[in-house]
Amino acid sequence: MSPELTIADPELFVRVIENIDRAVLATNLNGQIILFNPAAEACMRLSRRQCIGRHYSSLFADQPRIIDLIRLALEEERPISDDEQIELNRPHSLPTPISLSVSPLFDQNGSQEGIVLIIRDLTRLRELETALRQADRLSMLGTLAAGLAHEVKNPLGGIRGAAQLLGMELGSDSPLADYTDVVIHEVERINGIIEELMNLARPRVESMGETDLSQILRDIVLLQKEAHRSRHLEFVLNLDTSIPPIRGDESLLTRLLLNLVKNAAEAVETGGRIDISTRIATDYHLMSPENRPIPWVTIEVADDGPGIDAADMEKIFTPFFSSKNQGTGLGLSTCQKIADTHNGFIKARNRTEKGAAFTFFIPFIRNIDKKLPTQIPF
Ligand SMILES: Nc1ncnc2c1ncn2[C@@H]1O[C@H](COP(=O)(O)OP(=O)(O)OP(=O)(O)O)[C@@H](O)[C@H]1O
Ligand SMILES: [Mg+2]
Repeated sequence: MSPELTIADPELFVRVIENIDRAVLATNLNGQIILFNPAAEACMRLSRRQCIGRHYSSLFADQPRIIDLIRLALEEERPISDDEQIELNRPHSLPTPISLSVSPLFDQNGSQEGIVLIIRDLTRLRELETALRQADRLSMLGTLAAGLAHEVKNPLGGIRGAAQLLGMELGSDSPLADYTDVVIHEVERINGIIEELMNLARPRVESMGETDLSQILRDIVLLQKEAHRSRHLEFVLNLDTSIPPIRGDESLLTRLLLNLVKNAAEAVETGGRIDISTRIATDYHLMSPENRPIPWVTIEVADDGPGIDAADMEKIFTPFFSSKNQGTGLGLSTCQKIADTHNGFIKARNRTEKGAAFTFFIPFIRNIDKKLPTQIPF
């Protein structure tokens, strides 16, 4: 080993702490903050100046779990961590899942002089876990449902044929003809649902081309405005027009985005507002097979409706889950399937202000011949 590598360079330590992407905080034995790195500033949304000298309990007010862990580490002089249960509360934002590790800080003589806290934001990790869980459940349910759908389609054809024959026998002036019409109409409706369901499970051959997301969104808004004309909805488009057409199946992507916009339109009150925005996400990316980072294009559909019940959040992507009287509950699962075939994913959240927001992440790939990565490493 070269000798310079063994020399402890204090400036190097400072640079490591300054550049590491984990929030690092330290307190003295009285619990006053004595170190607060830039990642801690970003994580806590507070500047170093606001924090140095402050007692940790005022920084984590109303967060007993964090305070308990710090107190324990201070009192028992041992490292403690929690990767599962902690949420960080900050003003004006939703609670953020974090992992926290607290270690005692010792001076040269081995006496404790305080503690070091390392916080890691787990939001991205949790999002990925949720997306994978949803995709897993979807593929299992999809296969099951498709098998069932196949079995139902044949007898349904029989019912439809029999109802048509009966209608012909009765003649159009018969007062009973209305009933055969109802049977045929309802059978067609069930058939439509089954088709959707089979689409969901059938691995479909996509026709990938260069897709102009802005154009798709403008067209969808035009149609939805018309469909909900009497409800005077306000659609606000905030499109990054510098995004060029990207690799995607236009008809599938239209279906996906239409489902999101339709859901938003159905969720809001008369006069409600739907914000649709596109951007290139720079905060995280996908690795290409050649190990080049590929950014994501994100399309967010946000509404000012009632939002999603916390208890429903896990279920909304499950086929047939619907809280609506007339809903089939296949909209979002179809969206998820389409996102999947594009190596993308969908994230649902409740907005801090009001309503729900759905964000579709799709890899920003222009060249349609380019192979997509097979997995989503962050
Ligand atoms: N923008 C939204 N605001 C609040 N809840 C929503 C929103 N979008 C979806 N949901 C919830 O997710 C459920 C599932 O949505 P999904 O699109 O899969 O089915 P659906 O809209 O009920 O029926 P379908 O799309 O088949 O007509 C909805 O019933 C609703 O409870
Ligand atoms: Mg829907």
